[in-house]
Amino acid sequence: MRILVTGGAGYIGSHTCVQLLEAGYEIVVADDLSNSSETAIHYIKGITGKEFPFYPVDLKDRERTEQLFELEPIDGVIHFAGYKAVGESVERPLMYYENNLVSTMNVLQAMRKRGIFHFVFSSSATVYGDPEILPIPEEAPLSATNPYGCTKLMNEQMLKDLYQSDNRWNITLLRYFNPIGGHPTGLLADNPNGIPNNLMPYIIRVYENKLDQLHVYGNDYPTPDGTGVRDYIHVIDLADGHVAALDRMKEPGVHIFNLGTGTGYSVLEVVRAFENVNKCRIPYVIDPRRAGDIAMCYADPSKAERELGWKARRSLEEMCKVVLI
Ligand code: UFG
Repeated sequence: MRILVTGGAGYIGSHTCVQLLEAGYEIVVADDLSNSSETAIHYIKGITGKEFPFYPVDLKDRERTEQLFELEPIDGVIHFAGYKAVGESVERPLMYYENNLVSTMNVLQAMRKRGIFHFVFSSSATVYGDPEILPIPEEAPLSATNPYGCTKLMNEQMLKDLYQSDNRWNITLLRYFNPIGGHPTGLLADNPNGIPNNLMPYIIRVYENKLDQLHVYGNDYPTPDGTGVRDYIHVIDLADGHVAALDRMKEPGVHIFNLGTGTGYSVLEVVRAFENVNKCRIPYVIDPRRAGDIAMCYADPSKAERELGWKARRSLEEMCKVVLI
């Protein structure tokens, strides 16, 4: 099977490219490099020893998106491409709606034109809003608290409507919990530009002495130590979830899966695990809660195990280990 991976130079996309190539899939990568670098493409080729075409296209450009499908034989698409910073989405909602919705629509239109109906979408646990039930099952109520979350929810709805209109579509919605960690070679990692928003890249900057201390956002949540609890999952386990979805989901429909470990860890537990595994100290201060944050979020991942034969295997220690190159 030949898979178009959009956003394939990004953090989750690049790890998924490696796992797909190692599982025997052929890939074509499209990425506008707006939040990633072509170096990741070279590293994917270096790690796997395999070649594949790379297109630096902006999928908001409908003509160029269609051209890509004319040039390359493609059997299915994994659609990672999209903006993902919650705070930025609040400041620049139109940019988020345009980018995250128009690119999906263009890809789907191009697929329909060419009779390609196999689509895997990068969704997020953010679609559960502030969850009422823990661990969170796929049937939990959906809501969004910021424009980024809205784009995930709207894309999900668009895909459900599409299947209703034409039941040849085979759509998988993968709802990611909190991916962290990197490739064991040290070549692929979550390395955002500027000051990181997410916990693990921030901790790594403190570890590298590029930032002074971690700011822990709140220690007065109703959690065992008062800090926020999340379901951290190794990015390679997450990438393997995509391979499992392609291997197993052969029937048309809209298939929805949580990709998480099922275990929640607090911010302070992550800091301690990081310190132990990397033999270091991460200084931190307690700051007020961050606007929009929730106390706890962790998955019920049993459906993915049952139906995809997939389960996250890597420990928190493996997720925290820094590889020096
Ligand atoms: N945190 C800190 N200090 C920081 C950064 C984060 O204390 O500098 C805390 C947060 O308050 C939270 C936890 O660490 O309790 C995790 O925060 P992240 O920013 O790493 O992740 P979020 O859970 O807020 O959000 C992530 C993704 C979203 C996605 C969401 C799904 O960034 O894209 O998971 O649940 F929507």
